[in-house]
Amino acid sequence: MDKIIKDFEEYLKDNLPQVKSFHPFFNDTLKKMLLAGGKRFRPELLLSVVNAYQPLLVKNAFGVALGIELLHTYSLIHDDLPAMDDAELRRGEKTIHAEYDEVSAILAGDALNSHAFFMISTAPLRDDMKVKLVSELSYYGGIGGMVLGQAIDCYYENKKLDLDELKFLHIHKTAKLIAVSLKMGGIIAGLSKEKLEKLFDFGEHLGLLFQVQDDIIDATMDEEEAGKTTGNDEGKNSFVNLLGLKKAKEYRDDLRDKLKNDSSEFDEKLSNSLQKIVERFRDR
Ligand code: IPE
Ligand code: IPE
Ligand code: MG
Ligand code: MG
Ligand code: MG
Repeated sequence: MDKIIKDFEEYLKDNLPQVKSFHPFFNDTLKKMLLAGGKRFRPELLLSVVNAYQPLLVKNAFGVALGIELLHTYSLIHDDLPAMDDAELRRGEKTIHAEYDEVSAILAGDALNSHAFFMISTAPLRDDMKVKLVSELSYYGGIGGMVLGQAIDCYYENKKLDLDELKFLHIHKTAKLIAVSLKMGGIIAGLSKEKLEKLFDFGEHLGLLFQVQDDIIDATMDEEEAGKTTGNDEGKNSFVNLLGLKKAKEYRDDLRDKLKNDSSEFDEKLSNSLQKIVERFRDR
């Protein structure tokens, strides 16, 4: 997978959303956060599934993986806005609104969101497959997932949720997009409905694991180490705030062990990739 991720990074650089105009810095606001780095976790998930079942389609899937990364990057740019989490550092750099202004950050997010679907719809894949991919990402990246989760996250700031509500919040805010990244890889690979459902279900748990770890990072790392503003979840319904740091870590460890176990149910090649991914979620 290392070589594939490296090639994907090159693909991203060659396919940045850029457009000619006389705006002095519009293009910079579009590319800044994409070039700042990021773990590329969601593209990696999609490409791992494609690579496990249809390695010859990996390159054809790059545009779809980039689409997911564009949508995710838009969600981060908006997440950092003063009206949401009000953060000045992201991926080791000044956030768009801090570097430029709020209008630019709102519009850069809007642009990356729509461009995600441009990238998917123009990928070298079958049209019926692309319609399916667009419908999956638009739903789970939108009202069926990320946007709903963000709405709940922000509305319930300083209002405490119970554990089930907290899980609902994080499953939507973070886990659905992670789950759909795996599922979209499965769609490209032509997997059966049953296998797609299994991948999505695994992805929801993986997404929860991801968010618990993210909440632990907020509570335990400084901003230099995390590359983003930390200590920022004070009023949030984070796992750390609800369970305490120790219990949050136990919850993470239990989830990781469960997922390690569950990943063995997939075909060998995918199972190996997923196990490696799951293993990352521990104290560093
Ligand atoms: C951060 O996502 C936002 C969450 C959903 C928790 P990542 O931790 O994947 O951020 P990057 O892409 O690596 O910057
Ligand atoms: C954001 O969650 C999830 C998104 C949908 C962007 P957080 O607010 O916890 O993400 P960070 O910690 O700022 O990266
Ligand atoms: Mg947030
Ligand atoms: Mg945030
Ligand atoms: Mg966080």
